[in-house]
Amino acid sequence: MNPGITRAIYPGSFDPPTNGHLDVIERAARAFGELVVAVVVNPQKRSPMFTLEERKRMLAECVAHLPNVRVDHFRGLLADYVRAQEADVIVKGLRVVSDFETEMSTALMNRSLSNVDTLFLMSDARYSFVSSSLVKEVFFLGGDVAPFVPFPVLNVMSTKRSALLKT
Ligand code: PNS
Repeated sequence: MNPGITRAIYPGSFDPPTNGHLDVIERAARAFGELVVAVVVNPQKRSPMFTLEERKRMLAECVAHLPNVRVDHFRGLLADYVRAQEADVIVKGLRVVSDFETEMSTALMNRSLSNVDTLFLMSDARYSFVSSSLVKEVFFLGGDVAPFVPFPVLNVMSTKRSALLKT
């Protein structure tokens, strides 16, 4: 590995990507030589609303202006994926103190499994209350989520809502 290049992995469900995610991606892209945004195929919490292809396409459009960022996906353990990618660090965003409580044990487990550290970026205060699940709830109940998601995401969400209304 070129010692000047650090490969960082930013994993998540991205169901859908929010402005908070994009802010972390843009800041991490400045901090690391290469950033891989890694979409988990099957999120632990529940079935995703957006397919893997939709989540990857939304992210790819959102990061098109960042030459050192690419979008990928993974199945199974994040620790196995970061080892296979020969990543140097995992990057996560922290919005509020309660995020830290779960992220700390996850980071320790991932380091124990892969010997790769997790580095945390504090979310911008503007996005500390923005989550994919809240964005989905507000949007599908008719609220305006334009301030919270990148434009390509808003487009895909509108298409999805139209499709759901037809069923
Ligand atoms: O955006 P999310 O839903 O907070 O992302 C969670 C994610 C995908 C980072 C996490 O669920 C994950 O790493 N899943 C892969 C399975 C895994 O490695 N589990 C053990 C974690 S110690």
